[in-house]
Amino acid sequence: MTIHAKATIVSDLAGLRARVAAWHAQGESVALVPTMGALHDGHMELAREGKRRADRVVLTIFVNPTQFAPNEDFTTYPRSLEADCARFDAVGGDLVYAPETSQIYPSGFATTISVAGPAIVGLEDRFRPTHFAGVATIVAKLLIQAQPDVALFGEKDFQQLCVIWQMAGDLDLPVTIVGVPVVRDRDGLALSSRNVYLDAGERAVAPLLYATLTRCAAAIIETGAIEPNLEAARAALTSAGFVIDYLEARHTETLLPLEDAMKSGRILVAARLGRTRLIDNVAIIGMDGELS
Ligand code: PAF
Repeated sequence: MTIHAKATIVSDLAGLRARVAAWHAQGESVALVPTMGALHDGHMELAREGKRRADRVVLTIFVNPTQFAPNEDFTTYPRSLEADCARFDAVGGDLVYAPETSQIYPSGFATTISVAGPAIVGLEDRFRPTHFAGVATIVAKLLIQAQPDVALFGEKDFQQLCVIWQMAGDLDLPVTIVGVPVVRDRDGLALSSRNVYLDAGERAVAPLLYATLTRCAAAIIETGAIEPNLEAARAALTSAGFVIDYLEARHTETLLPLEDAMKSGRILVAARLGRTRLIDNVAIIGMDGELS
């Protein structure tokens, strides 16, 4: 165990369990914020929300190999443990769990969570077919290892959040899963650790993603038409230089196609600008009035 500023860092499961057990024995509640590091203000908001909801906040930092396909950016994914710990300290975090790979995937590890429901609705899964099995497996492991009372995830990865809700419910994991709204730069770009891949020209164009989604959601509510407005949004982004993987309107809970503009839903997008793949989503607040 190494003391780093105020928050302690542990890299072994026994150390994590001992800290959380001590807090629980004192009657303190624990929030878990799972991350892959390279922290930005979106992660800080998860930590702040964790502090509002629990007495103690544990941040995990683990770049999880099983959620990356062989052609993806696992080896180049930004890593900044020192800076991450300092940022977490600054919001009053209590413990960083930065496990060695052997603590998560010991030699002989042979179990993967098989996901369906919101994990196979033809959005991210169409382009990253093994991604959500990797996410569900690591998140289940972190929840079982840390045994928090509440765990927080950003709504930017909205399909991921739905997969985690489904998994935690299906497996009766005794934890409350909380989604935290997207944190955006002043120009609307959703914060992401991968935004560092954007060059200056791409960074200038990137906010169009959110602006286009927002306009599209308003047009769907105003006209009652879904597909023509989605098609107009796809065309606007393509002519600005985005290569679109998907841009779809989906039901907020099931993520199945939204067929009735009067029902609340989400528009979800994944689009590439140069070598950077951006994802984002916005709510469509339908006449049923549900906030999504
Ligand atoms: O959203 C992320 O950063 C990751 O997918 C998560 C939830 C930490 C699992 O590795």
